[in-house]
Amino acid sequence: MEPIHSQGKDININLKGVTICCDDFGTGNTPIIFIHGFPFDKSSWQPQVEFLKHTHRVLAYDIRGFGKSTPGQENMSINIFADDLIELMDVLKISKAVVCGLSMGGYILLNAVNRYPERFEAIILSDTQCIADSPEGKVKRYKTIDQINVEGLRDFSEAFVKNIFCPESLDTKKELVERIKDIILSTSPLTITGTLSALAERPEMCSTLNEILVPVLVLCGEEDAITPMSQSEFLNHNIANSQIHSIDKAGHLSNLEQPDVFNHYLNTFISSRKF
Ligand code: MLT
Repeated sequence: MEPIHSQGKDININLKGVTICCDDFGTGNTPIIFIHGFPFDKSSWQPQVEFLKHTHRVLAYDIRGFGKSTPGQENMSINIFADDLIELMDVLKISKAVVCGLSMGGYILLNAVNRYPERFEAIILSDTQCIADSPEGKVKRYKTIDQINVEGLRDFSEAFVKNIFCPESLDTKKELVERIKDIILSTSPLTITGTLSALAERPEMCSTLNEILVPVLVLCGEEDAITPMSQSEFLNHNIANSQIHSIDKAGHLSNLEQPDVFNHYLNTFISSRKF
């Protein structure tokens, strides 16, 4: 399918009430769309976009409020983020796509697949889960919101990166760790607190997994401490047409900590189906 917009980096797409900033490269029958996790931006998909853009049409976009996308006026919610994905596809005249979401990107994807199954050719669920926050998890999110409101993002960003990377990445991938910290610090505190509340209030999606009929690839860092391997195994067991791979020497950001292994699994999944 030929793109209807000009392609390239940082293309601004106007949706109802927000402008979504999107990278759009390459050509191919079925576009592959990447949704980043919290609180990152589309640049966190760079190794995958670079890898696939020579053989496929690949898009990565900043979720509203993150990166270069505007926040809009409405309260953040996973439902609204999922609506944005579908509206973005509508505006870009993409009727069906292969979509990959990491962590919060996966929450958005599970929500969108549940409501708009016909828009997906296949999905990739990376370092994500279908459960809602536990009561303790919610309390922790709201405490973090209070902390950010008083102290700003510095301590939050320090603590956050310690949790998302595996110990080896923290030791050997210092540049990557700093880059992720910079992304967090350049995000508006209002976007971060608004999204923390959206994450706390998201409904569980586990009861919808048996309705997913498209091919699914589940990927997870072996040492993911935020959305542990057991959650990925649950997704894999409860989705009919699913396969799973764990990624060694990776924590929550498996696509960045082990990009070659991640890309290998991604490419094998995509090329085996000729999307
Ligand atoms: C993410 O990476 O998107 C978040 O860590 C998800 C979460 O906190 O539930």
